[in-house]
Formats: sequence, structure tokens, C-alpha cells
Amino acid sequence: MTEPRLSAALQRIAPSQTTAMTDRATELRAQGRDIISLSVGEPDFDTPAHVVEAMKAALDAGQTRYTSVGGTAAMKRAAALHFERDLGIATDTAHVTISAGGKQAIFHALMATIDPGDEVVIPAPWWVSYPEIVRFAGGTVVTLPTQPENGFRFSAAELEAVITLKTRWLLMNSPGNPTGAVFTAEDLTAIAEVLDRHPQVLVMSDDIYAPLTYTGAPHATLTALRPDLADRVLTVSGVSKSHAMTGLRIGVATGPQWLIRAMEKLQSHSSGNPCSISQAGAVAAFEGPQDFLADWRETFRRRRELVVARVNAIPGLSTPVPQGAFYCFIDAAPLIGDKVADDGALALHLLEHGVAVVAASAFGGTHCGLAGFRISFAASEAQLTEAMDRIEKAVAAL
Ligand SMILES: Cc1ncc(COP(=O)(O)O)c(C=O)c1O
Repeated sequence: MTEPRLSAALQRIAPSQTTAMTDRATELRAQGRDIISLSVGEPDFDTPAHVVEAMKAALDAGQTRYTSVGGTAAMKRAAALHFERDLGIATDTAHVTISAGGKQAIFHALMATIDPGDEVVIPAPWWVSYPEIVRFAGGTVVTLPTQPENGFRFSAAELEAVITLKTRWLLMNSPGNPTGAVFTAEDLTAIAEVLDRHPQVLVMSDDIYAPLTYTGAPHATLTALRPDLADRVLTVSGVSKSHAMTGLRIGVATGPQWLIRAMEKLQSHSSGNPCSISQAGAVAAFEGPQDFLADWRETFRRRRELVVARVNAIPGLSTPVPQGAFYCFIDAAPLIGDKVADDGALALHLLEHGVAVVAASAFGGTHCGLAGFRISFAASEAQLTEAMDRIEKAVAAL
């Protein structure tokens, strides 16, 4: 039989390596192997009880039918509240849409706006899905490399150097996955001045990790600082990371009405409305108490300190202190080429020693001259300690 034919668009993309590593860890566990998974990007806390109760009540009330494609009126109000209260972005329900996770909002926004030849600037290291979505949409990825010594942030001048007349989007992510980079208000003000000179550029501000910063400064985001840019910035957020609701698949976005309508048009033919029960849960998440977040942040901060200290004590490994999110982007360059062929082989070696991580190359680390791996510190201190013991042994065994 001849090979089944896949679309040219699909052939342009690779499967998600974070998901692949997590699946491999699950497979090995099913075979009875003891694997600590630090590859997945989700909080290990339970979904707050009031969110679960709201979803049970929605089920009991028979809320199991289609909702409006872009979300219920209550959900849009809750999302607008979240953008205003938590991100400082003045918006209203007409400028908000709800999707099946932040990922879908990003996918629909890019699919709705990119034509072949359009360039999309993506700072590297990047979240795995950004370049794949851009390629699927037919766009050209323009890499904007960043370095650990600059906190994985790019400067206004570095941004300006890669913008052309073909630039359609700049994808921003602060706090960032995989590096924990956090852009300051000062950084963003300078970036906004570059954007002023290039009105053809749209900006995706992926703020999904906004509640998780360890800098002490309030979260800074482009349209809160420069509301006049609201007609070309799409801010994406959600409940996956902030409220431990990754499986429930709710993402929220706010931006210009033409873009929100375009995303909903596409959504009307892809998934339709996001899950009705999950929407009820997300309303409770945004409208209910937020005080638990301070405790979660504190827990993450302690874990971050533990992991950073342990990593930096292992010869051949180093990491800067991540300023947000729950990842450490670990440099293993001294080991690569010498003790192990590449960072993909290093990740497999660590898996053999019982820890699942994701190679830096999956996040575009190679574009920055970086080789190593990302770990998530969304695991208990006991698990992190055991994982670090295993990593230390694995590196010594190379
Ligand atoms: C930077 C970034 N953006 C968006 C998402 C998507 O989140 P969701 O689970 O809500 O689709 C993730 C999840 O890993 C992420 O790390």
C-alpha cells in the first residue's frame, strides 16, 4: 500500500516534544519503572474546591448544552473582570473570547491572520507550540535569540533589528515558558516605542503565568502600560496554570474586536464552544477567592530555591534563577559533545536514571547556542529532592 497522504501543512510541523516526553514517562511507569516526571507544565496542586463545587452545580443544573461559540455571557464577564483586576487591562465582554485552553486561543488567532510569506517574530527559547502553529498557518518563523545573562529578555534594539515590512506578529510570553523570563514595565515601555514605529506588527501577549512571578513587582503587560496599543495586542490568559485547571481546557483572550470576531468565526467551525461545565468552573475561579494564589506562589518560590541551588552544585550544569512560572532552563553545554552527543541524548540518559525532562533543543535552545534541558518544579519538595539526587548521579555516570 502506498503511504497515506498528509497535508503539506501538517508535514511542516513536528509533534509536541513536551507531550512526547510525558507520554514516554507514563509508558515507562506503566511497565513498573519508577520515573519522576518533571517534563509536564502543570501545577501539582488540587483544583480549588469551590471551582469543583461550581462544576458539580452546573452539571446538576443540566448545563450540558451548547453555549455561545465564544463563551457564555457569565464567562465573558468573569474573563473581563480577570483582565481588569489581575492584569490591569481595561476591557469589556465585546473584546473578550473564551476557548478550549490558552493554546486554542493562540492557534485560532494565528490561523486567522497569517498568510504565506508573513513573518512572525518569536523570542527563543520559546514555548514549543509557537513555531509549530506559525508553520502550520504557513508563516515564516523569525527567531529572536535571548541569553541567560540578560534574564532571557530581548532589548528594544534587538527587536527592532528583526522587524521587516513583512512582520505580522511578535509573540511575547512573560512570565515565560521555558525560561521563567519576566519583562519589566521598563522593558515593555521600550518595546512599545519600537512597535510605534512599526504599525503593521500585531502582538500576542501570552500572560498565562501572570500570577506566578517572584520579583515582588506587580505583573507588567503591554496594554496595561500602553492602552493605546489595545487595537493590535491580543492578550491571552486562562485558568490552567493559575487555578490548576489544565485538564478542564479554558483559555481567555482580549484584543481588538475584529480579531476576537475572526477567532470566534474559526472556533465556530473547529471545536465550537468551550466545555459548558468547565466554563462554570472558570467563572468560579475568576470570581471566587484568589488568596490561595499567594500560598501557591510561596510554595513555588521555595521549590525554585531548592532546585536552583541543587542544579548549580552539579558540575556541568547551571541555571539562572527563574523570575516567574515554574520552570528551570538548565544549561548543560559543558557536557554536550564531550560526554554525550546532544541534549536529546542527555534527556534520554536522565530518563534512564528515572527523571523525565525536556531537551532545550525542543524549545529552540539551539538558536541561542544553548544546550541542556528544562525541568518543571511543579512537584513536591520530596520529589524534587529525589529527582535532583538522580540527576546528580546520572550526570556523574556520563
Ligand atoms: C506559554 C504557554 N502558553 C500557553 C499555554 C497553554 O495553556 P492551556 O493549557 O490553557 O492551553 C501553555 C501551556 O503549557 C504555556 O506554557
